[in-house]
Amino acid sequence: MAHLVAPSILAADFADLKTDLEMVEKSQADWHHLDVMDGVFVPNISFGLPVINAIKKHTTKTLDVHLMIVDPDHFIVDLKNAGADILTVHYEACTHLHRTIQAIKDAGMKAGVALNPHTSIDLLKDTITDIDMVVLMSVNPGFGGQKFIENTYEKVRSLKDLITKKGAETLIEIDGGVTDANAAKLLAAGADVLVAGSFVFRSSDPTKTIASLKAVEI
Ligand code: DX5
Ligand code: ZN
Repeated sequence: MAHLVAPSILAADFADLKTDLEMVEKSQADWHHLDVMDGVFVPNISFGLPVINAIKKHTTKTLDVHLMIVDPDHFIVDLKNAGADILTVHYEACTHLHRTIQAIKDAGMKAGVALNPHTSIDLLKDTITDIDMVVLMSVNPGFGGQKFIENTYEKVRSLKDLITKKGAETLIEIDGGVTDANAAKLLAAGADVLVAGSFVFRSSDPTKTIASLKAVEI
């Protein structure tokens, strides 16, 4: 499968979101990555349901919603109604992860599970065949523009081994500090989806930067 690129609008201009959304819509990007933060699970607050609902009206691309919140179960149906296509919860925020994954699927979305940098992929060995996508955090969640954690490459390789061994069809998404300096190595290790926030929106030509991430070959 050709790899996918998902710009994170966390790094967009929130006062002129429509312009940035239209740029992503017209670009070679595959998905919009939307980071929801509650100020409890992570030390930052971003945006929530009304913003996702508004974004949905201006997009045709897949909405990849990354929940960095405690008690995500309460919001699954609301997020589906707001327009989420893929819903990712954090392993660290779910006491009954298997139940949460099933609830996301029952609501009609693809189910993602995100792992913080300190969380071992071994913890997914009993659920991997139920998970549509694993999001490997390559920074500590909460902020854009942080430095990529080098240990991520090894985690991608171990996760890919687990997916292959279990005969699962789970995608691997990398989130945090992705640039043209690490993209090829991540894809070579087994990544399927690259999230990029500041690398895209802080560049002088975001459309071209998205195209350059799409063009990365391994
Ligand atoms: C971090 C978020 C990321 C963030 C990535 O908590 O989950 O999606 O927007 O931003 P960059 O690409 O700037 O690291
Ligand atoms: Zn994210």
